[in-house]
Amino acid sequence: MCGIVGYVGTREAEAILVDGLKRLEYRGYDSAGVAIEGPHGIEVVCRMGKVASLEETLSALDVEGTCGIGHTRWATHGKPSEANAHPPPSCGNEIALVHNGIVENFAELRDELEACGHVFRSQTDSEVIAHLVEDAYLQLAERAAERDALSDAQGHRRPHDEAARRAEGEPSILLQAVHAATSRLVGSFGLAVVCESEPGLIVATRKDSPLVVGMASDGAHMASDVIAMIDHTRDVCIMEDGVFAELSKDGIMFFEPAGDGLRTASPRHTHIDWDADLTEKGGYPDFMLKEIHEQPRVIRDTLAGRLVGDELTIDELSLTREELNLIDRVYIIACGTSYHAGLIAKNLIETWAQIPTEVEVASEFRYRNPIITPTTLVVAVSQSGETADTIAAIRDARIKGARVFGITNVVGSTVARESVGVIYTKANKEIAVASTKSFLGQVVSLTLLSMLLAQSKGKLTTGQIRLLFSELADTAEQVEAILADASSVEEAALACRDAKSALFVGRGMGAAVANEGALKLKEISYLHAEAYPAGEMKHGPIALIEDGFPVIAIATNSPTYEKVLSNLQECKARGALVVAVASEGDAEIRRHADHVIYVPAVRDAFSAITASVPLQLLARSIAILRGCDVDQPRNLAKSVTVE
Ligand code: M6R
Repeated sequence: MCGIVGYVGTREAEAILVDGLKRLEYRGYDSAGVAIEGPHGIEVVCRMGKVASLEETLSALDVEGTCGIGHTRWATHGKPSEANAHPPPSCGNEIALVHNGIVENFAELRDELEACGHVFRSQTDSEVIAHLVEDAYLQLAERAAERDALSDAQGHRRPHDEAARRAEGEPSILLQAVHAATSRLVGSFGLAVVCESEPGLIVATRKDSPLVVGMASDGAHMASDVIAMIDHTRDVCIMEDGVFAELSKDGIMFFEPAGDGLRTASPRHTHIDWDADLTEKGGYPDFMLKEIHEQPRVIRDTLAGRLVGDELTIDELSLTREELNLIDRVYIIACGTSYHAGLIAKNLIETWAQIPTEVEVASEFRYRNPIITPTTLVVAVSQSGETADTIAAIRDARIKGARVFGITNVVGSTVARESVGVIYTKANKEIAVASTKSFLGQVVSLTLLSMLLAQSKGKLTTGQIRLLFSELADTAEQVEAILADASSVEEAALACRDAKSALFVGRGMGAAVANEGALKLKEISYLHAEAYPAGEMKHGPIALIEDGFPVIAIATNSPTYEKVLSNLQECKARGALVVAVASEGDAEIRRHADHVIYVPAVRDAFSAITASVPLQLLARSIAILRGCDVDQPRNLAKSVTVE
């Protein structure tokens, strides 16, 4: 949830850290801080709020130093405040660290450390790590000094000969201390640590939190996400759990636990080939709008190369046609928007492949006892591929014998690595906290998967697959048409801007889309919104309706279209302000709605793609009218790496 960065090299660290933190702000923006090794020791500067406020303070202070670490926080333990900003203090202030994750056993560790005389100055769980590293460091340094004194007396290697230590592949004392401290932690962590006694060194490690390191011509970089360092290097190492990296201006050494100690490791390197321009707004006022407009490209890229002759191909699935044919149950597990993409896929899989499909919120799935057999397919959907609940659910499902398939947007992410097969959604980096283009990428990928299952089960003929694929490909152009004229969305947004609450309704596919429409609106405009299957309205929610209450209906062509109209009539009769998303050519809808947003007419199976886009635009327009920051809504973070 938080973002961490580190740099050690030949350039001033301040600007590099601030720039990296800005790019990681999507992970949290409650407070930000840096620790930079300067001529007078480690200087720590923290500020409440966004990185811009830290930047302003730093530019006035002009902190010198070529080695430092930084943090942008999404608060878990302890409210957002300067005292709880990272780096958290240790007693002697000799150690500074930044942490992304949660220390689950922090209360017992804190009691233990306080009993030994450590004084805590924040309410964060992360502060226990600083004190643990400090303790371990002091003990190890004392032992090393004794050993060095002995070697020196015997005329062997000179004490604290850094070059010799590195050449011999020995870990630094700091790295050993971090190893010792992290062995006491229960929970998740991405960590970067510096120490006043070992200047020019950053130690980094992770467990269940993402961490990337890379060497550039100006020095070594590390971050929670490659986006923070892509301007410096494209050759990176996506760290594995339990691996320790020691960064210095001369290079990066890797270690892994071996017995009671550590041995050198050689992790795999990855070349990042996506475009750094993706991290810029490209002329749009915000990332959300830019990403909404990228959706036609996402649809095209996700479909590229998937129909070869008459055959749908998803080789990454790693399942033969026969194995696919045996699948008799599907679970889709995900959170938030990704969960809503799953709801859409349930309709498709059950209709086309006729396989019973459950869609489950990952945080519930992992604590239930789902029925899993070797012929169960578990599909984990996650934009980031790092959502803690989704990862935990995958692990549980695998233990129970399921085949786990991942749909994610991030190459090399944990979901990708822990699934037997993976489809990448080709959305490219998504920066706005509210998912838009990655959602559409997920829906298209899941549509392909549904067609493949149906093809393998012999439920769709080759001709039907070809026709469906061609109509699916047409949605790219249809989305372009929706984006070309958003005037009806703007009008509807003006009508809804002062509402206190809104209901999103639909049936079948429309009910699934309504869920995503409501989530988009509430997360970026802070306007309370709820989704209901339209037929359920009269069982309770209709009591909410009074004059001017917005009801946003997905009323595109579908087998239940007439039923939706009746439900809208019931709402209108009670004074609702009805906004309908309807299919072009539908004149009837005007009699039931105050505002109509037309989308191209498509078959019901693909209506989620076309109907979701105006709902994204509507949420954004309402949020802008209400003065909200659409890219970084309050209390949220893009990637939820804590439970
Ligand atoms: O990275 P994931 O897809 O696993 O993230 C799941 C949710 O946290 C995410 O979709 C969240 O709901 C977004 N804010 C929605 O816009």
